Amino acid sequence: MAKQTSAFDLVLPPRDSKTPAYLWLYSALRAEILGGRLRPGTRLPATRDLASQYGLSRGTTVTAFEQLKSEGYVQGTIGSGTFVSKVLPDDLLKIRRKAEAVAEPMEGRKIRLRISDYARRAPKLSGYEQRRFVPFRANVPAMDLFPIEIWTQITARRLRKMSRNLLLGCDALGYGPLRQALAEYLNTSRGVVCRPEQVVIVSGMQEALDLAARLFINPGDRVGVENPGYVGAVGAFEAAGAKISPLRVDEEGVRLDAASLRGCRLVYVTPAHQFPLGITMSLRRRLDLLKWARATNAIIFEDDYDSEYRYCGKPVPALQGLACTLQVVFAGSFSKVMFPALRLGYLVVPEDLIEPVAAVKSVSTSHSSLLQQVVLCDFMREGHYGRHIRRMREIYSERQQILVNESRKHLKGLLEVSSIEAGLQTVGWLTDGINGLAAAEAAAERGVEVVPLSRYSTSTRACIWSPKNDGAREGLQLGFAAIEPAQIKQGVRELATALQQVRAGKKVVSAGA
Ligand SMILES: Cc1ncc(COP(=O)(O)O)c(C=O)c1O
Repeated sequence: MAKQTSAFDLVLPPRDSKTPAYLWLYSALRAEILGGRLRPGTRLPATRDLASQYGLSRGTTVTAFEQLKSEGYVQGTIGSGTFVSKVLPDDLLKIRRKAEAVAEPMEGRKIRLRISDYARRAPKLSGYEQRRFVPFRANVPAMDLFPIEIWTQITARRLRKMSRNLLLGCDALGYGPLRQALAEYLNTSRGVVCRPEQVVIVSGMQEALDLAARLFINPGDRVGVENPGYVGAVGAFEAAGAKISPLRVDEEGVRLDAASLRGCRLVYVTPAHQFPLGITMSLRRRLDLLKWARATNAIIFEDDYDSEYRYCGKPVPALQGLACTLQVVFAGSFSKVMFPALRLGYLVVPEDLIEPVAAVKSVSTSHSSLLQQVVLCDFMREGHYGRHIRRMREIYSERQQILVNESRKHLKGLLEVSSIEAGLQTVGWLTDGINGLAAAEAAAERGVEVVPLSRYSTSTRACIWSPKNDGAREGLQLGFAAIEPAQIKQGVRELATALQQVRAGKKVVSAGA
């Protein structure tokens, strides 16, 4: 095992004037070793450095070290390195146990630290887990096709030319040139109407949601969220103390039932590609939603998380650009176009909100990593961003087509896979009688990952709402973007076998699922 070096100054408890210096140093180091803060194998600071740090003579530190060595706490040669012994003698361990018993606070009474209501409400969301990519993992781009060499080159170039200003940081709202580049991109490609000053760089969509919750929500306020919908949004608003109004989704997007919308201060929507159903919100519904927001002075949070990947139909401009820019907060993420670990995204806020956003952000996260922002800005300005989107759009479109074609061949009568207009994943509707959870479990046993839509819903049978079926269909979310064609084909066959087993009653939902 490599020796660990203590590269930091050792902070020891203060010395009282009655204790001789060598004894104080010896006792303090021994306590550090027994307390486990100086771990076996750790290199102690040089006697000379300790002497100068604590204003002692070198002879004093050498005497303390010799004493520790003679008792077996440390090994090595003073002058060429002294290390905490790897194996502490038995009697030392006994002393340690005794010391721990003394340190135990008020025996028998467990202290429970009090946390805030906010912390109690905040759910622990699962991140982008580092597991093997299996069909049909959703919500992730094809990481193996990201032009990592270009990203590395730009990063290396920026690091070589790192200026003092870049080391200092930037405004809480983000790196100016990136905000400018994004404003241009959003104006031309997403139909967003904004000035660069309205663009705020955030650490991914989750921070955008958190910021919106802090800006607009007081505990008890009502927030409308699509149902089924994005759990990250529900989590952020609930943590802020909001009461969630689930809003049903039909073929035109989120439904605007007056009863569900009553009292909503904010409505969270994914108009370009509803999460998780994949529906594009109709123009009529968009206009109605804007009209409602204007009439009630409510905020619309537009999550535009993966609309760059549109495969058919005309590009659908953002809701934000459709006239009522005053009440729409538009947000996007680089997790799907670039890579999730980048942790960068953006918010476009109405002019009046620039100052409040800057204040709220400055007291929480301040600005996102400046180096990453600068590299991303270069990546966009040099044309790599646009090229990467165009290339991936073709690849993802082909993968989606393979998934749909293969499903038609092998999943007939089991799962009806819809083709979608945009995004990295689609949904499949289960034939009546096949339970979503049981289907996901059976698929997992065959190495296939599918998410039952009920996971994203407040009801167990999630569903696209229609007056005919009253939302009583079950479905599965299927990601295709990160999966290679051969894996898609194999995955469809495995899924077919799994669903046949469920239909035949050979698989049921396991207890606790
Ligand atoms: C609806 C939706 N919005 C946003 C995101 C991206 O979030 P982030 O930028 O925090 O990675 C996701 C990721 O899966 C998503 O599904």
